[in-house]
Amino acid sequence: METRKPMLSITRRVRFAASHRLHNPELSDEENARIFGRCNNPNGHGHNYVLEVTVGGEPDPQTGMIMDLGKLKDFLYETVVVEVDHKHLNADVEFLRGTIPTAEVIVSRIWDLIERKLPAGKLLEVKLYETENNIATRTSSR
Ligand code: NI
Repeated sequence: METRKPMLSITRRVRFAASHRLHNPELSDEENARIFGRCNNPNGHGHNYVLEVTVGGEPDPQTGMIMDLGKLKDFLYETVVVEVDHKHLNADVEFLRGTIPTAEVIVSRIWDLIERKLPAGKLLEVKLYETENNIATRTSSR
């Protein structure tokens, strides 16, 4: 039987404000209104998003750190926040082009964007709070 080892992790939280519209151009206006309701509002609507990125592993013996949280913060600002903050997610954001930018789609694209730029195997979880109560999470499959 596989024994599960305790996992040590650290999390950095960043925030951004953005607007979006949930709309599938392949469906009729009536179907879009039925499926997405208020989120289909023609001119969009906004959220104050909270993004939490968790990296795991063993602390470096020399520093006691899994990763420098200040560097992780700078990395997340440069890679994610500048791309999405005060933007319209449907129109302005290259990594969301052609998608329906639900919380689960956004979190999945952010995972893809940052995973390949972090040291291999470090990324454990990316969590996006669209509201206080609506949360999407992508986790490592290990
Ligand atoms: Ni929304």
